[in-house]
Amino acid sequence: MRATARAQPNIALIKYWGKRDSDRNLPAVGSISVTLDELYTTMHVELDGALDLDELRVNGRSSPSLLPRVTGCLDNVLGADRMRGRVISESNFPIAAGLASSASSFAALVVAASAAGGRERTTDELAALAGQASGSAARSLHGGFVELRNDGDGIDVRTILDGEAWPLRVIAAVTSTMPKPVGSGEAMEASRKTSPFYSRWIEEQDMDLSTARDAITVRDFGKLASIAEHNCLKMHSVMWASRPPVVYWNAATLACLERVRELQADGVSAFFTIDAGPQVKVVCVPGEEPQVVEALSSTPGVESVLVSGIGAGAALVNGH
Ligand code: PMV
Repeated sequence: MRATARAQPNIALIKYWGKRDSDRNLPAVGSISVTLDELYTTMHVELDGALDLDELRVNGRSSPSLLPRVTGCLDNVLGADRMRGRVISESNFPIAAGLASSASSFAALVVAASAAGGRERTTDELAALAGQASGSAARSLHGGFVELRNDGDGIDVRTILDGEAWPLRVIAAVTSTMPKPVGSGEAMEASRKTSPFYSRWIEEQDMDLSTARDAITVRDFGKLASIAEHNCLKMHSVMWASRPPVVYWNAATLACLERVRELQADGVSAFFTIDAGPQVKVVCVPGEEPQVVEALSSTPGVESVLVSGIGAGAALVNGH
């Protein structure tokens, strides 16, 4: 009745923004991401008939504010009549700060909870369950370059290319570790209801997905860089034009973008992307990593820099 799983966050290169069904948390658009390697969340789930309520500890502290989402996810995985659980989550990177900790947390949680409850599930089933808790979490069930497609009444998640086939590096510049001002779910709904750019965003997404998929398949860095930056800035434009506006950036976010432009002007193969937070993630070819780390570390307002390769999908720890 207990199991431990580990999952890595993923960074979207072609973004998910907007829901087609908010009750079932189904995305309005497909997305493409890379699953990271060195950053991870470990989830331990222990089901105990003697417990009256679920318990959650996150990085050593009791965490009542995050408990309702965890309880909802456990209900989805094991049924509402399940035994209550003791859940222990440990991440080796800042949580709730735009580094996709919800993706690694819920991907690891569905794997650990299924195993603790003795449920055999396919990766597709686990991805669907993770996606109900956090849309981006569905992608962390797989490793490498991952595409999530809308498929009829659900989603279909697949690896397009393994990380070993194109071992790019991802450098995250942390510009603030404060919790974000508005959660991504609420912000997506604000965009859907009020942003004049939302419908165009939805219309163009299939084109962006196909350009990025082609670039990844033939490992064309320049083509991937150009479409990923465009898609990121387009998503943030949709947010900025929402009412009330959703602006996750700070001054250091913009300073990092300028740094990346300078690196690119010097011929460095690197591009940026930003999710629902102020952190800037820079993707580069392996040989350029030291230069990118140095440039971001010396940018005013950058608190720390995290470096990762591309990793594998969520899995049980020690097979149990
Ligand atoms: O999975 P959520 O609900 O936290 O939404 C994630 C949305 C973005 O990170 C901004 C984009 C993405 O595709 O991951």
